[in-house]
Amino acid sequence: MKVHAVILGAGGYGGGELLRLLIGHPNVASIQSVSKSHSGQLIWSAHPHLRGFLGDIFYADIEWGTLSREGAIVVFSAQPHFELAKQLSYLESEWETAGIADRVTLIDLSGDFRLSEALVFEAAYGKPHPYADRLGAFVYGLPEWKTSELRGASRIANPGCFATAVQLALLPLRGLNLGFVAVSGVTGSSGSGALPSETAHHPTRAHDFRAYKALEHQHQAEMEGLLRGLDITAQLSFVPHSAPLVRGIFATIQLLLPERLDEITLRQRFKKTFRNAPFIRQVDGSPRIASVVGTNFCEIGIAVKGRSAVLFAALDNLVKGMAGQAVQNMNLSLGLSEKAGLWMPGLFPA
Ligand SMILES: NC(=O)c1ccc[n+]([C@@H]2O[C@H](COP(=O)([O-])OP(=O)(O)OC[C@H]3O[C@@H](n4cnc5c(N)ncnc54)[C@H](OP(=O)(O)O)[C@@H]3O)[C@@H](O)[C@H]2O)c1
Repeated sequence: MKVHAVILGAGGYGGGELLRLLIGHPNVASIQSVSKSHSGQLIWSAHPHLRGFLGDIFYADIEWGTLSREGAIVVFSAQPHFELAKQLSYLESEWETAGIADRVTLIDLSGDFRLSEALVFEAAYGKPHPYADRLGAFVYGLPEWKTSELRGASRIANPGCFATAVQLALLPLRGLNLGFVAVSGVTGSSGSGALPSETAHHPTRAHDFRAYKALEHQHQAEMEGLLRGLDITAQLSFVPHSAPLVRGIFATIQLLLPERLDEITLRQRFKKTFRNAPFIRQVDGSPRIASVVGTNFCEIGIAVKGRSAVLFAALDNLVKGMAGQAVQNMNLSLGLSEKAGLWMPGLFPA
């Protein structure tokens, strides 16, 4: 199957990472990049690592009617939260008018459609949803959890980067009563996107380490969605930290094992849950950000002493935490090989 990809918000980090992965994807026949701030400029002016791979320019907009009459159309939205929600109704009417609506798969990288209830969204993002009627209309794109729902899905909400790491580590704990669970997450500065900000500025970040949004991060609502979906009873206490890294998420989850669960059974649960998950690497001891940077892998490790258990997960926020996971979701939704365009080792040392 041939795929024609369109990226909205292509000038940012998510856009650049999507381009890097899609130009090597065996099914992708064309890519159009929309950028308001870079329209008319060559793509490598914003993404210098793609020089020589893409000679195209960024467009201010797309003429939807000019897209190929054959093959699938996959639209990735790599825009800040609230942007796609404001544009969705207009975009869908444009696709109808252009006669392509039934060929479009829309994958949103923002938080706009990850949560399905208006009040939960407002509590997490601090503002009402601009198009609350469509909450719940997107499949939550965590491939290792929602594999069957993602096959054939035409609206996909790609999970947050912290949420991906924590949920993958919790996925094998279906049906358990865990009580209090302490979750600590560490992120690199690229998690804040390409626009400069005080918290991502090199002089204030390079030699610092701090917690932020303690117990108030918007991804906690996504994590709680997984708990409900898998019938896990737990009180999550999530504290994110910003570290002097560029890429990477490292999650540490501490809990007490329920009485009936010993270490052997816990490890068996992980093996069984991920037996068909090509991008989960189970490691002895601690995972390493340096061995997953640039890849779509999430490394997961476990430590147990008595009833104390620690689950670790490490991934690249721009790949498994964003663009790579979006391509994995595209592959699943279109019935392509799950690994297509994504099966590559990382850089070590990163
Ligand atoms: N960075 C991560 O680790 C990460 C991980 C998971 C999910 N996400 C989510 O993925 C989305 C993209 O993240 P990113 O890191 O690629 O962000 P980014 O580097 O800031 O890029 C976002 C792009 O969106 C476009 N845009 C459209 N409307 C905008 C507006 N009103 N204000 C600012 N930019 C606007 C801009 O592109 P043009 O000027 O080119 O149109 C901008 O380059 C966000 O929703 C983010 O929360 C990010």
